Parts: sequence; C-alpha cells; structure tokens
Amino acid sequence: MNQRLWTFAGGKHGQFSIDSVTAVRGEPLPTAPRLDVTQRADRPRDATYVLRGVVSNERYVNRGEKGLLVSKQEALGRAEATCSVLIPIKKSEAWWGLSQDERRAIFEDQSNHIALGMKALPQVARRLHHCRDLGEDAPFDFLTWFDFQPRESAIFDDLLGALRTTEEWQFVEREVEIRVTREPGTSSK
Ligand code: HEM
Repeated sequence: MNQRLWTFAGGKHGQFSIDSVTAVRGEPLPTAPRLDVTQRADRPRDATYVLRGVVSNERYVNRGEKGLLVSKQEALGRAEATCSVLIPIKKSEAWWGLSQDERRAIFEDQSNHIALGMKALPQVARRLHHCRDLGEDAPFDFLTWFDFQPRESAIFDDLLGALRTTEEWQFVEREVEIRVTREPGTSSK
C-alpha cells in the first residue's frame, strides 16, 4: 500500500455526509450524499467520482516557516473536529510555466499564503495532496483537506476569503468547495 496516496470518493458510502458542493471557479463536481476518505488504491464501490492525490515533499516553505508550522499545527481527526472541507484546485498553465523562484515569490512574498494560513492554526488542521504527476487526465492539481470544530468555522471562512483575493488565486482556474460533516464519535484522519 502506498501510504502517501489518498482517495476521496463521492458516492453512497463514506465517513462523511456532504453538506454542500460549491463550484467556486470552473466546472462543478456532481452532488453525492457521502464522501469516503481512504488510503485504498482500488475504486470504491458505487462512487460517483473519485479524486486521488499523494502527500509529497514541501516545495515552498523555508526553514523558519517550517519550524513555526510544526510548532503550531495540529493533526487531522481530532474527536471534536467534526467539520471537514475538501477543496480540489487546478492552477493554470501560466502558473506551471513559471520558474520555482517566481512561483515562491507569488505564493508568499506577494500573497502571504503561509502567513495568512498560520493565523488559522491550531484551530484548523490540514493536509495537502498533489495530483499533477499521477496522470495527464487528473482533473485537479491539488486536493486540499481541512478539519476544525463547528465553532471555529469563522476562522476557516475568513482564511478562504483572504486567500481568494490574493495574486496566487489569479492562477486558480478550477476550484470546488465540498463541505462535509463527520458524526461525533466516529473517527477518520
Ligand atoms: C489552514 C491554514 C493553512 C496553512 C497553514 C497553509 C499552509 C500552506 C503551506 C505551508 C503550503 C506550501 C507547502 C509547500 O511548501 O509545498 C501550502 C500550499 C498550498 N495550500 Fe495552503 N495553507 C492553509 C490553508 C489553505 C487553504 C484554505 C487552501 C485552499 C483554499 C490552501 C491551498 C493550498 C494549495 C493549493 C497549496 C499548493 C500550492 C502550490 O504548490 O502551488 N491552503 N499551504
């Protein structure tokens, strides 16, 4: 089993009930009652759609930022963190045509992605999955996955609002926001 591969399947089964699906930019995803989040490599039963991504090495964080992140961030799956959000994102060819230093300049120097995100820690936990190298037909470049307590929703909403006004988001050509709930007492990472 590839421990870095995660599968998100919308369909009839899964630990999470889907509360809303919003096409923020570009094509939507189909509606489905439940979201299944697993590390299985096979296609889940009765899935309406399947999205896959791998946890990879970091591309942008510097040593100082990494230290701050590690000291502040919490793990996914805390018992009380019953609100989760899956946001698949595709960036434009213009983004992928930039050099690494140009991307870092837009990502942090101009957009403050890490600094903004840091303000949502430790209330919001997160995991970033990369999809781009899994196949040319991958519909998204990233699957971003978050959880938090219901009473911390505003912190997450404020962060989303701030990120979407940044220079970095000028390069986002498809974004879907899937809000889900896990029943208290059940567990999932
Ligand atoms: C919860 C607070 C957040 C923190 C602390 C945070 C932090 C980070 C960090 C450190 C990276 C860079 C990883 C690397 O070095 O490769 C990153 C990448 C990314 N984050 Fe966030 N983030 C947060 C929230 C969000 C949200 C809400 C979204 C989506 C709406 C998002 C979308 C992304 C994407 C798409 C990337 C990949 C960018 C790329 O490689 O082009 N992040 N985030």
